[in-house]
Amino acid sequence: MAAPIAHGVKQLAVLGAGQMGLGIAFVAALRAKVPVLLHDRSPEQVQKGLALMDKLLAKDVAKGRIQQGDATEARDRVQVVNGVPAFRDADMVIEAVSENLQLKQTIFADLAKELSPSVILATNTSSISVTKIAASAVPPGVAPASAEGQKSAERVVGLHFFNPVPVMKLVELIPALQTSDSTLARARSFAIACGKEVTVSKDVPGFVSNALLMPFINEAIMWLEKGVATREDIDTTLRLGMNHPMGPLQLADFIGLDTCLAIQQTLYAGTGDSKYRPSVLLERMVDAQWYGKKNGKGFYEYDT
Ligand code: 3HC
Repeated sequence: MAAPIAHGVKQLAVLGAGQMGLGIAFVAALRAKVPVLLHDRSPEQVQKGLALMDKLLAKDVAKGRIQQGDATEARDRVQVVNGVPAFRDADMVIEAVSENLQLKQTIFADLAKELSPSVILATNTSSISVTKIAASAVPPGVAPASAEGQKSAERVVGLHFFNPVPVMKLVELIPALQTSDSTLARARSFAIACGKEVTVSKDVPGFVSNALLMPFINEAIMWLEKGVATREDIDTTLRLGMNHPMGPLQLADFIGLDTCLAIQQTLYAGTGDSKYRPSVLLERMVDAQWYGKKNGKGFYEYDT
């Protein structure tokens, strides 16, 4: 059997320092031992993320999982930078911004403009078509179907991490229509170096993970809406009756209600299947800007 292709990532760049981006930077720096350039347009978000990283490293030292020296080295591998031009020396970029197609398309066009075609461009999207994102990863004036356009798009891949990234053992790998075998193999090898198991899903709306998870969460919200049971009884039923670590409403708060809604809208628009139609209650909660754990109010209340 041929030896697996090495990831060859000597410098990673992560775009977005929210709960996913920060988690990805953390496992890359600590487990894959790769230097990370981290950028987020919000300096407050970066500071919040770095503080969380310090806390997680200190906890791992206190629990005897790593030595203080490993923690210091991991922390030193993460360098905050200002914008995509500072990613010039990266071999791989992982985009982890919010679940918005237009935003991702703008970012990938910018990455293709600024970076060499040899740089792997991964998206942590949870539901959006990786093929659509790859089609935007072409330099200005280049048609996606041209030879140059295809060459540029073949280094795009979906690399879907799970929250909380330091804890969850899975990465879902999603090849776009344009993704080359070498890109896929290198992305897989990188996820393994980060300590993850890898599954592969075709580029269908929501991939395997969210196409199965989101109808479950949405159904739980509809049952709450209908008054079938209280929030606690719905969650406790799934937690204790089925041994889920969290009930579906608690999990929705944990993922972020805005993110759940965005994923469900992508699933519904991409399939036309009514089983994916977001519940009115979820839409209203997002209208009210109740986003769950991240801003203190969702199905439950949290300290922020
Ligand atoms: N970041 C890093 N580590 C975290 C964390 C976070 N946000 N939250 C908890 N942890 C760590 C804790 O520090 C603790 O680590 P330790 O073992 O070293 O002490 C460990 O997780 C367990 O935490 P707790 O003891 O505080 O609490 P629990 O035992 O209840 O576990 C949990 C917390 C791991 C979050 C668990 O409740 C769980 O697995 N929940 C389900 C999570 C899940 O399903 N995630 C996937 C969401 S879907 C997704 O991400 C896809 C996207 O596209 C939507």
